[in-house]
Amino acid sequence: MLPQQRLELAVSIAKEAGERIVDARCRQDFSQRYKNGQELVTDVDLEIDTLISKRLEASLPGESRLSEELAPDKAVLTSADALWVVDPIDGTVNFAHGLHHVAVSIAWASEGKTRLGVVHAPFLGETFTALYGQGAWCNGKSIHASRITNLQHCLVGTGFPYRRDSRPPLLRRLTTVLEHCQDIRRNGSAALDLCDVACGRLGAYYETVSPWDFAAGWLIAREAGARAGHLYPCPEGIPEDLYGENLLVSGPEIFAELGDLLRAADANEFQWSRAE
Ligand code: IPD
Ligand code: CA
Ligand code: CA
Repeated sequence: MLPQQRLELAVSIAKEAGERIVDARCRQDFSQRYKNGQELVTDVDLEIDTLISKRLEASLPGESRLSEELAPDKAVLTSADALWVVDPIDGTVNFAHGLHHVAVSIAWASEGKTRLGVVHAPFLGETFTALYGQGAWCNGKSIHASRITNLQHCLVGTGFPYRRDSRPPLLRRLTTVLEHCQDIRRNGSAALDLCDVACGRLGAYYETVSPWDFAAGWLIAREAGARAGHLYPCPEGIPEDLYGENLLVSGPEIFAELGDLLRAADANEFQWSRAE
């Protein structure tokens, strides 16, 4: 199946999943629990992952899948030549709390490159798509990342891991960004943060996440003209497009400067400079 046809399939599956997500929240007919100690998961996460998996299997039997709830084993990243990467609900905490930043994220990668991505936000009525080398769209209209050149005017999105003991080192980055940029947003969906960079609402996004959180949004942002990279070198053997550690995605003009700032923060070099 051609990438364009795969994208159409992924969009129709994401929209069907989105309808079910909206319906489940209206009816409040789901239960919640915690996995790995601190990570919230609902029945709907599992149900949507199952729905997407069944739909993909029906149209493209036997193709490899990495998905957060049903098939989270990242070993497939090194073993499969091609695979679907699925986050059934990105923004589960938002979903459970009645907030609107919630998305279905589906990407397909082959030969180490993400070829297509869809991020569908059912409560926001926005469907972001991209095809490798061909551009990025929101509800069918071409989108473009910001060409901002001044960090002080840059609104930056990020997120924090569920594990509380992993958060303190990130506070140094936060301090740095608050000092040098316009402000920070923590909207609770990495996929949508990336799409917000793609359409110029956010000037930049940085975080460490899992492949399903960012695969589709990463392609969407890059195809919209954002620069997408990692703060530190990636290990060999894992495709960079699917390696989620220390991501930085931004308008191209500020990428280098923001990267330097974040690395300096990690090295504890940054000092809060203004006594205001
Ligand atoms: C989470 C969201 C959040 C990010 C977390 C992710 P989930 O995904 O993308 O913005 O900060 O790291 O785990 O759990 O809602 O699918
Ligand atoms: Ca996610
Ligand atoms: Ca999820």
